[in-house]
Amino acid sequence: MSFYITTPIYYVNAQPHLGHAYTTIAADVLARHMRQRGEDVFFLTGTDEHGEPVADAAHAEGVDPQELADRNAERFKALMPRLNASNDFFIRTTDEQHKLKVQEVLQRVHDNGHTYKGMYEGWYCPRCADFKVENEILEGNLCPIHEIPLERHQEENWFFRLSTFQEPLEQLYRDHPDFVMPSRHFNEASSFIAAGLQDVSLSRARLKWGVTVPWDPSHVFYVWFDALLNYYTALSYADPAEDLNPRFWPATYHIIGKDILKFHTVFWPALLMAAGIELPDHVFVHGFLLGADGRKMSKSLGNVLDPFEVMEEFGTDALRFYLMRDVAFGGDGAVGMHAVRSRYETELANEYGNLASRTVAMVHRYRDGSGPTVSTDPELAFDFDGLREQVAMLLDRAEATQALEVIWQRVRRLNRYVEERAPWQLARDPAAGEQLDQTLASLVEGVRVLSVLLHPYMPGTTQRLLEALGAPDLNYQSAVFAASGDGGAVVALEPLFPKRA
Ligand code: MSP
Repeated sequence: MSFYITTPIYYVNAQPHLGHAYTTIAADVLARHMRQRGEDVFFLTGTDEHGEPVADAAHAEGVDPQELADRNAERFKALMPRLNASNDFFIRTTDEQHKLKVQEVLQRVHDNGHTYKGMYEGWYCPRCADFKVENEILEGNLCPIHEIPLERHQEENWFFRLSTFQEPLEQLYRDHPDFVMPSRHFNEASSFIAAGLQDVSLSRARLKWGVTVPWDPSHVFYVWFDALLNYYTALSYADPAEDLNPRFWPATYHIIGKDILKFHTVFWPALLMAAGIELPDHVFVHGFLLGADGRKMSKSLGNVLDPFEVMEEFGTDALRFYLMRDVAFGGDGAVGMHAVRSRYETELANEYGNLASRTVAMVHRYRDGSGPTVSTDPELAFDFDGLREQVAMLLDRAEATQALEVIWQRVRRLNRYVEERAPWQLARDPAAGEQLDQTLASLVEGVRVLSVLLHPYMPGTTQRLLEALGAPDLNYQSAVFAASGDGGAVVALEPLFPKRA
């Protein structure tokens, strides 16, 4: 089966920060897991380069928007390998092929009669690049997201007849209760639709920095329409040898933050309907990362967690693990360096890392580095029963934190097993040789299975560990607790999560 997953494309008017890293990591966990299951996966990320925010930032710096876009797109591109993200393509909305495809699709929307020219007047947030409706505006005429003063704008625009999609969208939500996940965001989107949809502006006359409207070249498309279409256009040129559209469209999951819910759960499906394109299966909406003080992260509050600092100090896998573990995926959560350190020390170093080192060290000390080929412990095997399927079921629903939790329960189970069996005592008892063999074989097997399941979360560390165990198979199929050890050579291992000062 094909599995197509996307992140939002990130604005190039800012530097990559933790929020961008978070969405990318979450999508990467799902992409990697699906590849382990043998699915045909396509994972897309990229940058959103048109629109007012970028034009304004470039103007403020006195450079051409393209120059600013080129410079900052490089930073986002470089972020991906740094996070160990396995994206199959990186789209930039300034790619010529993207622009042509946007024009083609929106021309079809126009030809299908879903546009008209009209006058728009409203309260506009330059940072959102969006007009705000009365009931979302904060007191003092502030943007509900950026809390900055809104500007009164009036201009002649092309409009998209969103209002005519009221009924089709209601139908979509009735027929597909998992179109938007988790359910509270489904409810939020449904209420937004139920409140009544107004037409939205599709073009900008004042702006030059965008994709030209083919039927009225004095306008450029409103950046959100150009941006949303990236999910569709990328497939047509990501691979020069193949149009990937038939293979991957419709998308399985769009992963987004809740700040851009309306665009993805209302505008996007309506736009696709207007163009006669099939709708994606799911939009998964995650929450906000907050400062350690529970307030919105902001430089001025000094509560920002820098992903690069975390990776430098603790490594990429620790950042990935921390974000998936500490913030329930789908909800909001506070993050901070103190919490990173604490998870690193207690869970990564002491629980998983220590379990791995102990296991490898004991196989060396007591069995000269060969995992015993005897039967594994059926009682322990029982505690792993159905684990692989449970993880798959949770990740099918993008429940990345829950899936990690059920895996982690087994990490703890194995640590208890070491204490219960006390191999160091068995080693002193000449009559306990068989028991020691079984204990070691079971530990190697348990660590192996967990590492395969943890691989999407911590690709680097788990691969290193599996290689040391002589079991490099990363396939999901191999994540079953075998009835006997395979007797492979286990090689010495440096600590996976070394102590930090
Ligand atoms: N360019 C638009 C998206 C277009 S998609 C067709 C945009 N870009 S953005 O650079 O502002 O990125 C927004 C996304 O970054 C959010 O939806 C979310 O995925 C992520 N995050 C940015 N800040 C975040 C937090 N503080 N917390 C969690 N995620 C955050 O919007």
